[in-house]
Amino acid sequence: MSVEFVPAVVPPARPAPPVRLADGLAYGGDYNPEQWPREVWDEDVRLMREAGVNLVTLGVFAWGTVETSDGVRDWSWLDDAVALLHRHGIGVDLATPTAAPPSWLLSAHPEIAPVLADGYREPPGGRNAWCPASPLYRRYALRHVAALAERYGHHPAVRLWHVGNELGGGNARCYCDVSAAAFRHWLAARYGSLEAVNAAWGTAQWGHRYGAWDEIDPPRGRHGAPNPGLFLDYERYSSDALLAHYLAEKEVLERHSAGPVTTNMMVGAGAQVVDYAAWAPHTAVAANDHYTLVDDPLREQDLAFAADRMRGMSAERRPWLLMETSTGGPSWQQRNRAKEAGEIERNALAHVARGSDGVLFFQWRASRAGAEQFHSAMLPHSGTRSRVWQEVVTLGAHLRALAEVQGTRVEPARAAIVVDDVAGWALQHGLKPHRGLRYGRELRAWHRALWERQVLCDVVPPWADLDAYDLVVVPTLLVVDDETARRVAAVPERGGTLLVTYLSGVCEPDAQVRTGGFPGAFRDVLGAWSDELYPLQVGEQVLLDDGGRVEDWTERVHLDGADAVVRYTSGPLAGGPAVTRRAVGRGAAWYVSAALPPDGVDRVTARLLDDSGVPRTVEADPGVEAVRRVGDDRSYLFLLNHTGTDRKVAAAGTDLLAAAEVGPVVTIPAGGVRVLREPPRPGASADGSAPSALSASSASSASSAPTLRPEDPR
Ligand code: GAL
Repeated sequence: MSVEFVPAVVPPARPAPPVRLADGLAYGGDYNPEQWPREVWDEDVRLMREAGVNLVTLGVFAWGTVETSDGVRDWSWLDDAVALLHRHGIGVDLATPTAAPPSWLLSAHPEIAPVLADGYREPPGGRNAWCPASPLYRRYALRHVAALAERYGHHPAVRLWHVGNELGGGNARCYCDVSAAAFRHWLAARYGSLEAVNAAWGTAQWGHRYGAWDEIDPPRGRHGAPNPGLFLDYERYSSDALLAHYLAEKEVLERHSAGPVTTNMMVGAGAQVVDYAAWAPHTAVAANDHYTLVDDPLREQDLAFAADRMRGMSAERRPWLLMETSTGGPSWQQRNRAKEAGEIERNALAHVARGSDGVLFFQWRASRAGAEQFHSAMLPHSGTRSRVWQEVVTLGAHLRALAEVQGTRVEPARAAIVVDDVAGWALQHGLKPHRGLRYGRELRAWHRALWERQVLCDVVPPWADLDAYDLVVVPTLLVVDDETARRVAAVPERGGTLLVTYLSGVCEPDAQVRTGGFPGAFRDVLGAWSDELYPLQVGEQVLLDDGGRVEDWTERVHLDGADAVVRYTSGPLAGGPAVTRRAVGRGAAWYVSAALPPDGVDRVTARLLDDSGVPRTVEADPGVEAVRRVGDDRSYLFLLNHTGTDRKVAAAGTDLLAAAEVGPVVTIPAGGVRVLREPPRPGASADGSAPSALSASSASSASSAPTLRPEDPR
């Protein structure tokens, strides 16, 4: 059984040169001409031009319509579609169609389909129905990718390669025997010996000691209490296995084409299906699919969080690409909400404000048939008489007016939130003091408080360079390695402000608990520690002396150099510290031992901003979003109003959407957006940004290569 496709250590990525996908910002979406008769194609390109579409994603699910039986390929329709788009000046983001293996392949080799933890093998009919470790699937996929790349590798219409689709969406974890063998191989490379695996996982507990590699299985079954070390390593292995597949396709594409290569991720709040931040350095431009959720009352903040996370995935904070979003309801939620008037543009420009160099939708034209027949589109079933179409045309015109923004970067943030999928996986699985905690909750809570104050923050992986930030927030980072802990601890030592929340630093990378008190790795820098965790019961609340009420999580904290800022006033911990602050020279280290409600997070955040001197982009009420993108000698202020009433902000410049001079006070209409080209700001640095109070190093660190290291202990 071959397992040669799964590396234990991901090779370091080469820094990719900047990518220019279109003249100006990219605009378009998934285009599926194979679903339509040829006469519709002519209307498609005519309407694409009317809307200003300049890039479409082609062929995502077109494996079976090209390779109609084993080794037999009919390229004619794809040739025609690429040629038609090219004639009309529309660029192509050409997908390798490997997300959907053809029916003939699945039927001849059902063993390539993924197996769930309970042993159930997925039948054909969905997508990503393949096991990431299957050598057979890999062989067929790469053979087709090579044929595709040979054919279109030098076609002038092809601006970007799009590997598969949402890798991991449906096959992020496979528990088949092939995967089990690949996992053992991965473990052998990571640990070197079976003794090291036994030691790392603490297999003496429950008598699980392994005497041979073949005794190690993936965490199968339904008991929900896998060994935490085994569980975490299977998560890591699964992410690496999919990344290995991406890299294999990328390598084939690069053999035949000099075009940039990417894949569309699914980045939001909380733990992702795979560790995308580790993947991002392997993409020429990081790409994301983002859909707002109907039951999220703060869906615009979820969008901002995802966008800040995309930007934070590259060391240089380079532009990324919104690869998919929707013009209205998708069809996979329970009740798929239409967007309000203006919301398509407000959402789209929020992504651009935070660093996307384009706006692409799923999908160009609404399908008549198939599973997603009721999914919204740029061109809805009702055609050009629809409100959505009118808004799509307006958005296209507005993106053209913003063409000069392309290639600029979001101004360097002075605040960062550290996020790690590995920590999220660990927090949410297995037997824990509180099994209902969700990683995304604490991340969103601290991000919201900054977002509502118009404070820009990068959402960064744990291996990011933290030196450029005046404020670093570390929420529920359950698993942390010593090197990351050292870089986090350096923040207050060099005069910055650090905030760490409960359940951070508690475990080593192998999931073993750090003994001596919580929060293990951060005890010393915080000058505070807990000897006992007090998760609260459903409905139980504990009062704080700042007027707040805590649900879910409290701890018995002891001061060891820090001061108590907020204390518990009820329950078994009454009188004890809940929030602490240790002054460290000019810096400060905060510990939040409780799951604070929003008003408590707000109060602490106000203090953090005082401590750190991190400024707001503008002074406005919550609901107004403000982000600046900067170029060599240019700066653009994006102002978005998510509320139902007009809002005023002190700002001035040329409103690029209205083509008018505005200021010194600008009204942002209810639900509207303004983008100002600002007059040069006095004291701005070469990239147009104001320098950080602390770090002369921010410029150099911003230009350094991505920091994914082969020796990364994760
Ligand atoms: C994405 C997927 C698209 C389409 C879309 C619908 O997750 O990549 O192919 O299914 O969802 O919202």
